[in-house]
Amino acid sequence: MKRYFIHTFGCQMNVNDTLRMGEVLASMEYGATPTADNADLIILNTCSIREKAEEKMLSALGRYRQVKMQRGALIGVGGCVAQQEKDKILKRVPYVDFVFGPDAIAKLPEMLKRVIDDRARVTETAFVDSEEYVFPTANPETSRGKATEFVTVMKGCDNVCAFCVVPHTRGREVSRAFPEVLKEVASLAAVGVREVTLIGQNVNSYVGGISFAQLLLRVAQVPGIARVRFTTSHPHDLSDELIEAFRLEPKIAPHFHLPVQSGCDTVLKRMRRDYTVAEYLERLAKLRAARPGIAVTTDIIVGYPGESEDDFTQTMKLTETVRYDGQFSFVFSPRPKTAAGMREEEWGPVPHETKVERLERLQALQKRISQEISAAVVGQEVEVLVEGRSNQGVDRRSGKTPHNRTVHFDGDAAIGSLVKVRVDTATQSAFYGKQTQLIEGPTQVIVESPWPDAESCDTPEGTPQLH
Ligand code: SAH
Ligand code: SF4
Ligand code: F3S
Repeated sequence: MKRYFIHTFGCQMNVNDTLRMGEVLASMEYGATPTADNADLIILNTCSIREKAEEKMLSALGRYRQVKMQRGALIGVGGCVAQQEKDKILKRVPYVDFVFGPDAIAKLPEMLKRVIDDRARVTETAFVDSEEYVFPTANPETSRGKATEFVTVMKGCDNVCAFCVVPHTRGREVSRAFPEVLKEVASLAAVGVREVTLIGQNVNSYVGGISFAQLLLRVAQVPGIARVRFTTSHPHDLSDELIEAFRLEPKIAPHFHLPVQSGCDTVLKRMRRDYTVAEYLERLAKLRAARPGIAVTTDIIVGYPGESEDDFTQTMKLTETVRYDGQFSFVFSPRPKTAAGMREEEWGPVPHETKVERLERLQALQKRISQEISAAVVGQEVEVLVEGRSNQGVDRRSGKTPHNRTVHFDGDAAIGSLVKVRVDTATQSAFYGKQTQLIEGPTQVIVESPWPDAESCDTPEGTPQLH
């Protein structure tokens, strides 16, 4: 049997695509190997959201070149950089054998055949942007033993945020028909999955036959499903109906990732985000009234072209006002083909040191807020869905609270159980404690691996990675 190794960069869309690649490769009698050193096929599933992500891909490629020289491994580049750069990657990196975009995963067998049999160097980066697009359905067997899984509900993005490459790398929005989504969720629940996260770059503009709010309500009714999450959302699509779903259905987890990007209206306008800070706060107030205590997280870009010290102060102010549970903050990175990338000079580039200094101030503020929110939970009991063994010690388990905080705890409950944990200590992003009660065992008997759970994605770049 031949062995493959996939190095995944980027967001949950990519993590999910990696799983689909694994399934296609398994059907060709390839087995997974945990290191590149003994692989016959190495795939980089890339991200191009920021310049740094691209650099990481290039340095990883440099490392894998050795394996190619030593054992003749094939090297493929997939994901968002591949979609963006197409055959330029083949020209730039002579030892890459094939390049393929996110829509070409199903074509892997065909591509590999051409690479191996015809010794061709192959590029497959056509978009399938129409309703004819067939969403790859996960093989539920690969989810057996897991408490939580992702389910794709849409692909692409029709927004035109001035800084963002995603519309260029993922194409137009296509929603997956709701019966298909429900079928996939049911098949996951049947193998013991208790929590699903519906994913897409802009899930609340979903139009797969019913509204996104209705989809959430239907998914919550699937027998065996205890929690439903989703990510990621654009504030302009946060409808009253979706807010109402939070009021109606307790299984919709009390966490909303709502990227704001900036706390200043002029910057938002230059970002083409089409909402004001006041509108954002109004949506949030309504959401918090519907589900008191809901955790809110966000993404922020600092040092956007033209951002003055005053503009940035407004982002600091918004952070204080909202008191986010967590933030992903990034310094602006100019991207090819985007308005902000092309017009940075005209709008006024922010010097690198200023960007970094602002980022540090914002992160220090958010750290304080997250720590305060965490500290308030110490001594209390939280509900945890057990996801696996903790990497913090042999007898420890880990899982998440409904508010999406990671918990490491002493306990013996099986994966897929819901337990109560008393929180003894807490950091900005995680809780530590002891299991006090088993609320509900798993729906399936789960055979555990003796190893702690490995990180599937070593360079989280996208929004859905929450901490
Ligand atoms: N669909 C999501 C965003 C996905 S990209 C949304 O609309 O919110 C994830 C995050 O990366 C964005 O929210 C943004 O904060 C950040 N990002 C995107 N482009 C960027 C750029 N050019 N420079 C820095 N950060 C960027
Ligand atoms: Fe789409 Fe999000 Fe990028 Fe905006 S930031 S273009 S909504 S993916
Ligand atoms: Fe692509 Fe996700 Fe990165 S959509 S650009 S892998 S954040």
